[in-house]
Amino acid sequence: MENNAPFWNDSVGYIIYPETFCDGNGDGVGDIPGIVSKLDYLKELGVNLLWICPLFASPMDDNGYDVSDYYKINPLYGTEEDFKKLLEEAHKRGLRIVVDFVLNHTSDEHPWFQKALSDPSSPERGYYFFRKGVRQGDQLLPPNNWKGFFSTSVWENVEGTDDFYMHIFSKKMPDVDWSNPELRQRYYEIARHYLDMGVDGFRLDALAHLAKDLSFASSSLPADENGLVYDTSRFSNRPEVLDYLLEFKKEVLAPKHAFSIGEVGGGVSPEEALRYCDRQSGPINMVFNFDTAWCNGAYGSIDKNDEEIFTDVLELKRNFMRWYDACHEKADMPLYWCNHDHPRVLSQYGSTKYRNESAKALATILLFFYGTPFIYNGDEIGMSNAEYAKPEDFFRDVSTKNEVLSLRARGYSDAQITHYLCRTSRANARTPMQWNHEENAGFGKKIAVNALNENYKEGVNVLDQMKDPWSIINFFQYAILKRREPEINDIVLHGKLHILDFNHPDVLAYMHEGKENLVVIASLRPYETYFSFYHMIRDVVLHNYGDVLLKDHVFTLRPFECFLLKV
Ligand code: GLC
Repeated sequence: MENNAPFWNDSVGYIIYPETFCDGNGDGVGDIPGIVSKLDYLKELGVNLLWICPLFASPMDDNGYDVSDYYKINPLYGTEEDFKKLLEEAHKRGLRIVVDFVLNHTSDEHPWFQKALSDPSSPERGYYFFRKGVRQGDQLLPPNNWKGFFSTSVWENVEGTDDFYMHIFSKKMPDVDWSNPELRQRYYEIARHYLDMGVDGFRLDALAHLAKDLSFASSSLPADENGLVYDTSRFSNRPEVLDYLLEFKKEVLAPKHAFSIGEVGGGVSPEEALRYCDRQSGPINMVFNFDTAWCNGAYGSIDKNDEEIFTDVLELKRNFMRWYDACHEKADMPLYWCNHDHPRVLSQYGSTKYRNESAKALATILLFFYGTPFIYNGDEIGMSNAEYAKPEDFFRDVSTKNEVLSLRARGYSDAQITHYLCRTSRANARTPMQWNHEENAGFGKKIAVNALNENYKEGVNVLDQMKDPWSIINFFQYAILKRREPEINDIVLHGKLHILDFNHPDVLAYMHEGKENLVVIASLRPYETYFSFYHMIRDVVLHNYGDVLLKDHVFTLRPFECFLLKV
């Protein structure tokens, strides 16, 4: 690889959800001292770029994505001293820290919003979107019919007035107005503050939504039973987002050489995303999209039977390749299966019955595709969905809670809703990390967050797996080591990638052509399947079964069997 390659080109990322990662002080909630205590573990695992979900002060309506003071560390997580220690200890070990920067909205408890409410003539009023409602007889209607991401209108009435404020997430998360130059400067100051403290970069939360359709005209798309329209084009990927980011880069990111990775979600095409992350002209380094996160039809599947939920392997391949084709010569690309906003990938695309095999197959696909892989905490031990028994068990997540209220209003029973949430809720990925098989899975002295998944007693935990040479965690560790070998990294990033047997409905296989050719073959099925292969195998680098079934150029692939081969 060229010497001037940016650091993320040979990095493996790791996503930490602080609330449920590790509890250092025994109050039942994960915290920064807990993270610090696991840095040696992360170093040993081989990852070197840590994205930590928000650590700022927050009333925790959306678990930290509702920030009430950007300059203060959330007391639940620790102090500024703890945060500085985290930076210092991480850097000592060669681990970079990327903080989650929430800049599309604040908490309604943030002093800016409080000021905006109490003094409508204050500059802070102009930081948010306040609009008058519409009087119809004795009814007061919101300014328009837009529906937000958390199943409600984007408008909330300011009690005792005709005014509404806009929030595309929960009502406790008012959106800020990036068309206001003063507001933008406030955010730049915050970013500089953390860069000066030593953070390596930012994950820019909900970045695609920074600009809104300022006409605020109602959408004419079909409305739901409440007359609301989910028309994300009104607040996603609008042209001004690029202008804001270019300014952010000029004023903050470039002078401080900060790394930046934006969340653009599902509403963006790779071509549009390139405007943000093109190596030459883009304001930021990479963007996360959701296109490979929902290829099993589970999203919106409340009316479907379990048999209808299975991985659409062809769709998965199309989505991987859509992004690869657009990006590989022009932009760096992050790869992830799951984060705190999705159910566990093992439950989505893998299988709890074939936990060991499927976790390894998913790891192999992710780690050797073109891009910078990000592993979500717990995937390295094959953690799976929460298996809660009733809707309320998922209620620490405000988006799930709102969704339940809306599903109940539409007449679904709690049993149907629970079944659906067990497939789709993001609370599934927010259960405490399973460190060992002792009390509370080694998370801490008690648990004051989402309930544990009981499978920590059955080997789904770090300590037990470390002792087992064939465990998921040992496979991850070895695979990461391989991924970061300079020759392999070079082929992965610079070799030409193509899918093998694109139309195979069960197998995801790809090849990088380089000085050596690198091949990944992975079955995504819980049953046996066949795969024709005519290349000469020179080395089996990774494999998740004890023997190879290959005859007359045809592999017999057992459930979730996977290979990394040199050919
Ligand atoms: C992002 C976060 C998600 C949060 C939302 C609002 O999508 O990843 O967890 O709810 O933004 O901040």
